[in-house]
Amino acid sequence: MTLNRNQLLDLAEQYSTPLYVYDGDKILDRYRGLYNFIPYPKLKIHFAMKANYNFEILKMLYAAGASLDTVSPAEVLLAMKAGFTKDRIIYTANNMTESDVEAVHDLGVLMNIGELTRLEKYGEKYPGSEVCIRFNPDVRDGEDIKLMTAGDMAKFGILLDQVEIVKTIVAKYNLKVIGLHEHTGSGLQNTESVFKSMKNLMAIATPENFPELRFLDFGGGFKVPYRPDEPSVDYAKMGAQITELFMDFCENYGRELEMYFEPGKYIVAESGYLLARVNTLKNNHGHLIAGTDSGFPQLIRPVLYNAYHHVQNLSNPNGPLKIYDIVGNICETGDYLAERRELPEIHEGDLLSVENAGAYCYSMGGVYNLRPMPAEVLIQNGKTRLARRRLSNQELIDNIIKESP
Ligand SMILES: Cc1ncc(COP(=O)(O)O)c(C=O)c1O
Repeated sequence: MTLNRNQLLDLAEQYSTPLYVYDGDKILDRYRGLYNFIPYPKLKIHFAMKANYNFEILKMLYAAGASLDTVSPAEVLLAMKAGFTKDRIIYTANNMTESDVEAVHDLGVLMNIGELTRLEKYGEKYPGSEVCIRFNPDVRDGEDIKLMTAGDMAKFGILLDQVEIVKTIVAKYNLKVIGLHEHTGSGLQNTESVFKSMKNLMAIATPENFPELRFLDFGGGFKVPYRPDEPSVDYAKMGAQITELFMDFCENYGRELEMYFEPGKYIVAESGYLLARVNTLKNNHGHLIAGTDSGFPQLIRPVLYNAYHHVQNLSNPNGPLKIYDIVGNICETGDYLAERRELPEIHEGDLLSVENAGAYCYSMGGVYNLRPMPAEVLIQNGKTRLARRRLSNQELIDNIIKESP
């Protein structure tokens, strides 16, 4: 825990719960740290904004010089509102519609295409355009099966052995392939997977296949420890190997290309906390259940892919340990934040902190059961500010009524 207990207790009082809190200094530290651990001079980090699209965080990363990986036209529009110019955005959606493609193309943002049929349609519509092509690196890794984005089961990217078909389409429409991309998965468990995917992409990134390359983009996926006893990856070592691999590649390619990565989790996961208050305790024949004022629509990762989020009882950190299910206030049996978790004794009114809640938590959220999403608070340089307020119940239903024809 970087933000201290008293700080979090105070914030919960001040802004009420449920509440997301982000440590902005940590976000910047993680972003800048990537440049230290991958010492390649032409490195460009695109933050995967799907992990956390909070507008204040986007503006902070913009000011720090970051670029963005985007996945929908609305993400591109929001990125531009935060200041990002088209040269600092890449668009990597899957199963794009015609209107998605038009909207993004008209904004001048580079399209990263991962389907043969979309590449054909794109060439037909915009012959001579610059484009990036997403390949499936054929390496299976990730925190959960649902977080593996490569291999034959994955819907993402073009198979490596379809490179000749890609070249035919590219030649037919005179497309200019300036980048190649791969993304293996999220929370890569083995550093070897990163190298293997890089090598697989580099093997087809020859000057014979793609003579006009400016960059290779190796996606995101850098793992962060979610469990207290989980070891951190030796990123300095990994970064040195990545740099060496890429420099060798550039020598063979004949030019020094840019190297892109697009991490989301690594930059924001550890900065975030979801603060939830326990309002109901149950003892079902010894099975203890702590009911909170949050729930899975506000943090869905445990339910969606069994993700572990460390939970602390901030109100009673030294109480005797007991085993609890930490559940939400949603009318679903599967509504839990943590199952069978050993925690210092919980009383009604205690404040719990769900940790590593900066990535794919708020951004995956919704208002199921019509409960507004929590407010978000950002702490930077010792200053705390509301980064997004919580809608009132009235505003939430007013929005629904407004959207009704
Ligand atoms: C194409 C692409 N790039 C980058 C990311 C970011 O991944 P992570 O947050 O694990 O770094 C994702 C997320 O799965 C992705 O699909």
